[in-house]
Amino acid sequence: MQEDRGKRIYIVMGVAGVGKTSTAKGLAEKLQIPFYEGDEMHSVENIEKMKNGTPLTDEDRKAWLQKIADTINNVQHKNGAVFTCSALKERYREFLMDQTQLSFEWIYLYETKEAIRSRMQSGKDHFFNPELLQSQFDTLEPPAYGIHIRTDKTPAECIDSILKEIKKPKIGIIGLGVMGQGLALNMADNNVSVTVYNREIKGVEEDIAKNFSDENKEFYYFSWFKDLEKFLRYLPWPRNILLMVKAGPAVDSVISEVLPLLQEGDLIIDAGNSHYLDTQRRISELEEKDIHYLGTGVSGGEEGARNGPSIMPGGSQEAYTRVSSILESIAAKDKNGDACCTYIGREGSGHFVKMVHNGIEYGEMQLIAESYHFLRFYMNLSIEEIAATFSKWNESLDSYLLEISVDILQRRENGELLLDLILDAAGQKGTGGWSTEAALKYGVALDTITTAVMARNISGEKELRTRASELYDNKKPRNKISEDIKEKLFGAFKLVQIINHAIGFDLIYKASEENNWNLDLSEISRIWTNGCIIRSALMESLVERFKENPEKHLLLNPNLIQETETCREDMLEVGTQAMAAGCPMPVTASAINYFLNFTSYQTSANMIQAQRDYFGAHSYERTDKPRGKFYRTHWKMDN
Ligand code: 6PG
Repeated sequence: MQEDRGKRIYIVMGVAGVGKTSTAKGLAEKLQIPFYEGDEMHSVENIEKMKNGTPLTDEDRKAWLQKIADTINNVQHKNGAVFTCSALKERYREFLMDQTQLSFEWIYLYETKEAIRSRMQSGKDHFFNPELLQSQFDTLEPPAYGIHIRTDKTPAECIDSILKEIKKPKIGIIGLGVMGQGLALNMADNNVSVTVYNREIKGVEEDIAKNFSDENKEFYYFSWFKDLEKFLRYLPWPRNILLMVKAGPAVDSVISEVLPLLQEGDLIIDAGNSHYLDTQRRISELEEKDIHYLGTGVSGGEEGARNGPSIMPGGSQEAYTRVSSILESIAAKDKNGDACCTYIGREGSGHFVKMVHNGIEYGEMQLIAESYHFLRFYMNLSIEEIAATFSKWNESLDSYLLEISVDILQRRENGELLLDLILDAAGQKGTGGWSTEAALKYGVALDTITTAVMARNISGEKELRTRASELYDNKKPRNKISEDIKEKLFGAFKLVQIINHAIGFDLIYKASEENNWNLDLSEISRIWTNGCIIRSALMESLVERFKENPEKHLLLNPNLIQETETCREDMLEVGTQAMAAGCPMPVTASAINYFLNFTSYQTSANMIQAQRDYFGAHSYERTDKPRGKFYRTHWKMDN
């Protein structure tokens, strides 16, 4: 069976007179594989019946289909063969597919009844009686898959169109939520042949794949299935299957459904926001079965999926190479026109990098949110003034998140600012918190990102906050904010943004070292310059910064020190004044503390070590001895 997997059986199907024979013959010639005329496999009785204008029954077709199936199974050519077979009903097609393990491509030729009738009337030699045409149309169940070609052009033109379709790279997508649909359309725009599948849940998810295919049929053609087994059987080996399903148990459940139907060499691309450890586990479980698995971060939301996301694939290089042309074609492009998609590294590194992307996203979102809050309620700027301020900042920051925040500030509903109608309880799907868990594991100080997660958590405590706000008077600004703070806001924002990125990249760096992933921080910044949620001018500059100094913390980069020094006072002033006035500034405060700690030769941690040793005999390293040696003091006795 192994050697048969490359064999592809092309069945040119459709009603009599549509042009199957000439097309199939020409196609076989171009593909340099054998051609078999299905009509020649009819029994003498069937041919007689057709000549007399008597429609064939299912019973009549049974032996004929069996003969075709037997011939298919005897195809010797390693690349397969082309057959003609009207295969009008789904049942007939299924019968053929059930009789063989070989993979099929259905080439469905169609034309109007009138055009075929006039063709038949002028044609010679064909044993088919034109009166049977109506019965053929009555029997016809056009396939929801395959290559659909209208034969209103010359056979040569039809063959060209078929060859173009055959040559397209092929992928199957499981899961047609907004992201799955966007990716499918994006791939179709980029010359990829996409087959779609969505599960059926009565009353919840019904006919999603069919409706998606129907809604787009004016401009795109998508083969669709609502039966997983048929979907997988249709995809040519080695299969490329992209999962766009909710991260977590749903991914495992889809994998366990598809696994018994997969063959070695098949590839699953998990394009959801899966946890990198889950991805790691899935990669090794599937590796044992010789099935490839790419844990692929995709950023850019609905719009990115449709028009060009940033793509972060991790897993085996071999698997990536197989689908790199598809992924790179649909990705956003950087300023040089290169794809915002690159092979990230081994194991779960693709999803790890996506997770940290989201962590940085959390930090930057909170920074914008608290800056807006401060400007509005503590500096009493109008909404228009805040929008204008953010717009001005964004002339140089070019941050996507800041850009959408300006739009948000301009959106009104019935004259009212929509933002004021949105409850201040932030949701989250977990990636920010996972970054914190990873930071704990790798011993990284993830201040701004963790604080942003905590700020979302506290925002969710709406009822407790409401009660507390009644108990504590936090409504009026407590301290006066100095006039010159306005000039400091931009510098403060800029530096917190830099620190938040430095923190995120530090986590990637440490995980890469620990796991020998060999991640390229400059390349990661590059694929984040477009398509993703955290694209910005800062990200653009990091591509070079990491090239100059690939292995070190961003705050140590000689080219950032000047900027950091210029902005540090602004950050300190804004943070401290805002908080003294009663405004919560979680991420700004966190960035300040991180910065002060990170840039301190002497921290307070010697006291911590002494305390640990005092009550727990944990020992400590000494400043007057080489590092790595630990000492104890018997604190009570020595006193
Ligand atoms: C992206 C986004 C995307 C999604 C987040 C939102 O890069 O396109 O990060 O992945 O919007 O999962 O996460 P929260 O719901 O946790 O804010």
